[in-house]
Amino acid sequence: MCGIVGIVSNRPVRARLVEGLIRLEYRGYDSAGIAVVNGQGIVRRRAPGKILNLQSVLDDAPIDGTCGIAHTRWATHGRPNTENAHPHQTGNVAIVHNGIIENFKPLREELARSGHIFATQTDSEVIAHLIQYHLDKDMDEESAFLASVDRLEGAYAVAALVGDANQTLYAARHGSPLVVGFGDGEMFIGSDAFALAPFTKRVLYLEEGDSAVVKIDAVCVRDNTGKPVERQIQMASISAAMAEKGNYSHFMEKEIHEQPEALARTMAAYIDPQSEMPLLAESAPLLENADRLVAIACGTAYLAASVAKYWFESLAGVHVETDIASEFRYRTPALPENGTALFISQSGETADTLAAMRYCKRAGLNTIGVLNAPESSIARETTAVMRTLAGPEIGVASTKAFTAQLAVLAISAIGTAQLRKKLNAVEAQRHIKAFEHLPELVRQAIATKEQCRTIAPTLAKAKQVFFIGRGVYYPLALEGALKLKEITYLPAEGYAAGELKHGPIALIEEGTPVIVIAPSDPLMEKTISNVEEMAARGAKIIAITDEAGAPQFEARAEHTIVLPDMPGLTGPIVAAIPLQLLAYYTALELGTNLDQPRNLAKSVTVE
Ligand code: M6R
Repeated sequence: MCGIVGIVSNRPVRARLVEGLIRLEYRGYDSAGIAVVNGQGIVRRRAPGKILNLQSVLDDAPIDGTCGIAHTRWATHGRPNTENAHPHQTGNVAIVHNGIIENFKPLREELARSGHIFATQTDSEVIAHLIQYHLDKDMDEESAFLASVDRLEGAYAVAALVGDANQTLYAARHGSPLVVGFGDGEMFIGSDAFALAPFTKRVLYLEEGDSAVVKIDAVCVRDNTGKPVERQIQMASISAAMAEKGNYSHFMEKEIHEQPEALARTMAAYIDPQSEMPLLAESAPLLENADRLVAIACGTAYLAASVAKYWFESLAGVHVETDIASEFRYRTPALPENGTALFISQSGETADTLAAMRYCKRAGLNTIGVLNAPESSIARETTAVMRTLAGPEIGVASTKAFTAQLAVLAISAIGTAQLRKKLNAVEAQRHIKAFEHLPELVRQAIATKEQCRTIAPTLAKAKQVFFIGRGVYYPLALEGALKLKEITYLPAEGYAAGELKHGPIALIEEGTPVIVIAPSDPLMEKTISNVEEMAARGAKIIAITDEAGAPQFEARAEHTIVLPDMPGLTGPIVAAIPLQLLAYYTALELGTNLDQPRNLAKSVTVE
């Protein structure tokens, strides 16, 4: 999604604005631009495509100043070309915007009637014109900015330069995050603390409806009623070094390899080392007493929720409804009176998940966020937070955040089962003990990477790829397909193994790769029958199984990836690893941009 950086300083800001933009690349974007206040007023440079293109525009026609704003745009309204790239400027105003202005059409018509001429197809440009309109009515800069923001409907984080010699940044947030950073003799604005990490760790998170006037040595924040308010300055938990690739070629590769440590860290927060029992803290009563659980998320996080449904229902006997956040609040869901809703999200900023969370709060449900970003919007608004301690995830394809989500959800399911007296202490402890060796099991799964690399050329040549599984391995099959699709652009589908013969089997041709996730469990025999059906129709079987299951695939599969035996609930966490590796090496084979796949954003902050 779009990224915003702003700096007001006593020294030139251009180079650092570009550095901030580079750090925001991971969010996904298709054009970029900067604007600065220099001796001649506000000047800007923009370019479609990568930041490299903007850098070469800046090399050809340099600009600099001591106050500026910059932006990476992920197109919503209008094609990703120079004209539609931010900053948008009119007269003495330049703005950058993240989000969608839902009432831009009537505003645009209204402004056009007063003589404003629009240069772009974007919804965002209307903000610059609104500010100029208010300046033309003799309002001062701050009043013009606030009066303009007041007219906006929809979701936005906005930063603006107002006035041709004004060393001030104006900012506002409503639905999209924005952070103010405190430097030494300079101040910053960023879409997230990560963008500002090389400059400062001292940050203040604007809250919903806040606006800010940021000067070189001070910030004045107002709440949604216009009243000045104090917001707490915090130390951001991310450091610049945490976001380097180190010796890896891609963030995704690094993040796959970080999983043993990420899981160990996450589990340590939820398992009492003495009693070896789950530690659910403030979430415990919300899980123990709920009549029903609702688990809501998007993309990979939704698939983590889907795995968790099997665990909560089978162990704790509690009914769990899973929902895709973008569907949930538009289908008039029948919600329990005494229910708890779980929101699973790496970023904690996904617009649909955030909106679903607010919907549930209004409906009187208790809310728990299972979140990787501790300072996110969802973290600040849910009743309780269960953190996944995966560390910053930069690659667009979610890897370590997914397995950390699964770990938190598995331990929560065991804890809930114990609280609801479906498991006694000994049984709960036995389940928890199964996690003792999880980091080592994941390390062994990562060691299948050479084998995954040799399978990758087969997948890279395929017209389409199928993933199948039963039970908890069904949502995992969906996750395998999603991972492959998003970074290789290959058509890939995940199915419940027993469902293929009800339609999708028609797509199987001679040589179609079918990736079967089937460690030895009570459902394995059934899955083997489905494998026979595929093989009989020419499918090329690639099996992901464990040592006990491997003999079953000897004669049936072209490749068998053998994982260590995975006790208790650890199976889907370990089996996720070869799926990530297969996607990674296939993308490498195809030469796609695997950390920033086309059209995708890391954190989707628009509906
Ligand atoms: O930040 P979130 O976990 O809320 O993001 C949800 C999805 O956008 C995300 O999982 C997406 O599907 C990933 N790119 C998948 O790898």
